[in-house]
Amino acid sequence: MTTVSVATGAARGMGLACARRLAAECDVLVMADLDEAGLREAAADVRGPAEIVPFTADLTDPAAVPALTDLVASRGTFRSLAHAAGISPTMANWRRIFEVDLVASARLLDGFAALLQPGSAAVCFASTAAHLLATEPDETLLRVLDAPLEPDFADRLTKLEDPRITTPESAYAWAKRGVIRLVQRESVRWGTAGARVVSISPGIIDTPQSLQEAERQPFMQVLLENTPLGRFGRPEEVAEFVAFLLSDGASYLTGVDLLVDGGMMAGVDQAGGFSGQ
Ligand SMILES: NC(=O)c1ccc[n+]([C@@H]2O[C@H](COP(=O)([O-])OP(=O)(O)OC[C@H]3O[C@@H](n4cnc5c(N)ncnc54)[C@H](O)[C@@H]3O)[C@@H](O)[C@H]2O)c1
Repeated sequence: MTTVSVATGAARGMGLACARRLAAECDVLVMADLDEAGLREAAADVRGPAEIVPFTADLTDPAAVPALTDLVASRGTFRSLAHAAGISPTMANWRRIFEVDLVASARLLDGFAALLQPGSAAVCFASTAAHLLATEPDETLLRVLDAPLEPDFADRLTKLEDPRITTPESAYAWAKRGVIRLVQRESVRWGTAGARVVSISPGIIDTPQSLQEAERQPFMQVLLENTPLGRFGRPEEVAEFVAFLLSDGASYLTGVDLLVDGGMMAGVDQAGGFSGQ
């Protein structure tokens, strides 16, 4: 049996670290990203033993996921997905943030549901931002958030006229809350096939994305000061955890979100909470 794994956002950051790590765990590794030049360079740099197959696409393009799942099915048995492709508040407006971080994640989990085998597994990347900034229960908002594949999803968000979602910072946090909830729902469907799906919420990890955020968002320094381990995480540390979550070693773990934050949430809690400033 030829096993196929997929790492998205694989041109850089945590997606690339996951690709490097997963290349030792499967026969064929598909590295997906919209940055064609970056992906070419990254793919050339990843050492097997897996065969490396680059796949360039914007995952918000509705044609991208069917093309990706067709590619995976043509190469073997779907083993695992590390879905790290995503954008952060300083990279786009609120609509695009929801589209990339939540809608594309929903399309991916929906598409891969057709390929599941016992032992298949996926990890989606949420964020501690969801735990810090998107916590109030609001049935109206959650109902919209829980239907990201509705064709009028963005219009339904707009109609809420809710200031919590129309700034990039809060959109990011709520999109990632949506990812956590998506994974909980999908775990039920995936479980019927003997497959698993979890999300992880990284703290501040040393990647191009967090560097960009830290340059423009002073509160990142406050979060770092409240992180018990006193440093940024390394992409390789997250990738090691993701590899475990995707392995049979984690065979009874599904439908949950796991913090990989150097203790940041515990530190913030002990310090009396986070105001978002
Ligand atoms: N770095 C952090 O501190 C941190 C913390 C919490 C959560 N996260 C989340 O973890 C994930 C990985 O973060 P990172 O820091 O490695 O990011 P990064 O910006 O360094 O890398 C993300 C990659 O995703 C790709 N990408 C973006 N949009 C895409 C799309 N529409 N289609 C295909 N590829 C796309 C980019 O081209 C890039 O190569 C993201 O979802 C991010 O929101 C990051």
